[in-house]
Amino acid sequence: MKVTPWEVSGNIDYNKLIKGFGVSKIDNKLLERIKKHTKELHFMLRRKIFFAHRDLNWILDEYEKENKFFLYTGRAPSGKIHIGHLQPWIFTKWLQDKFNVELLFQFPDEEKFLFKQKLSFEEGQKYLQDNMLDVIATGFDPKKTKFLIDTKHANLMYKEACRVAKKITFSMVKSSFGLNDKSNIGSIFYTSMQAVPAFLPSILKNKKIPCLIPHAIDQDPHFRLTRDILPKLGHYKPGSIQCSFLPPLQGIQGKMSSSSEISAIYTSDTEKEVERKIKKYAFSGGQTSLKEHKEKGGNPDIDVSFQWLKYLFEPNDKKLNKIETDYKSGSLLTGELKEILINKINTFLKKHRQKREKARKQINKFLD
Ligand code: TRP
Repeated sequence: MKVTPWEVSGNIDYNKLIKGFGVSKIDNKLLERIKKHTKELHFMLRRKIFFAHRDLNWILDEYEKENKFFLYTGRAPSGKIHIGHLQPWIFTKWLQDKFNVELLFQFPDEEKFLFKQKLSFEEGQKYLQDNMLDVIATGFDPKKTKFLIDTKHANLMYKEACRVAKKITFSMVKSSFGLNDKSNIGSIFYTSMQAVPAFLPSILKNKKIPCLIPHAIDQDPHFRLTRDILPKLGHYKPGSIQCSFLPPLQGIQGKMSSSSEISAIYTSDTEKEVERKIKKYAFSGGQTSLKEHKEKGGNPDIDVSFQWLKYLFEPNDKKLNKIETDYKSGSLLTGELKEILINKINTFLKKHRQKREKARKQINKFLD
């Protein structure tokens, strides 16, 4: 397996990642503690889709002492938004609502320009405009959410990024991100820009404010570095809460990727397109013949349609369990399971697209 901020592939062993990255598993005790504040647990917590963290107990200690945290997450525009991107955002919105906290959403519009040979700056700006609509459509509270665009808000960010950069050597970046002597110097500097939102509110409000970063586990190397540096600049280390990857259409290896058209469902896909992709590509844990399926049953653990219901589209545990039992017993067929998923996705995307249209008029609220 390979898990870096630029590449995720292979059969991902999350327990190995926990050890390798040095993050902590979210255990039942911590879940109970979260529940004390939120009253209920989001299905992504119940199902251990958000499975690891750094310093979440400390974040809650401070919260209980009325030192509220703010949330920080982000998206580097480089293509259209797919349902895998929405997964951590949906959870972040839930955290915002339950804890009633501010969110800083970063759009590092230079990141993918620096790291992807083919992406032009202009193309990146088009995706920035497009991606902001999907983020707004996720439902973040405009009164409590601010967008931070690296090139637009450079006046706020660059000075602070330099303070971070001065504490990071090239050899640290090489070992954390696998960069080398041939890497362009923009890519070497980049991580200092991703560190800034974790303490920018503390600078602007002139007091130390805890920061909680919800993100997919591949971003952890950035924040491991951030956590080393920030205390040296007189700031808190940020806490984080980390999720696993929504599997791509063709099978449960790696993660959904926007560079592979057939691995992803985009928020812009039509109902027909959704149906076609799921029917044609969604990897099935079912048996090859109807007779065999009825006898042996399917395997939900490797079935992408079932996994997507679990990760995103069937929040109701009872309903999900029934689907799982029926599939395992062979009474639910692959075609029927796919039909359930197609309906769920299309209902979801229909609403999402309506909110996305309304979002066009709202962008400015998130920018000032
Ligand atoms: N590097 C992330 C990406 O490739 C974008 C990002 C910036 C981010 N800041 C973040 C992601 C904070 C999660 C949390 O899309």
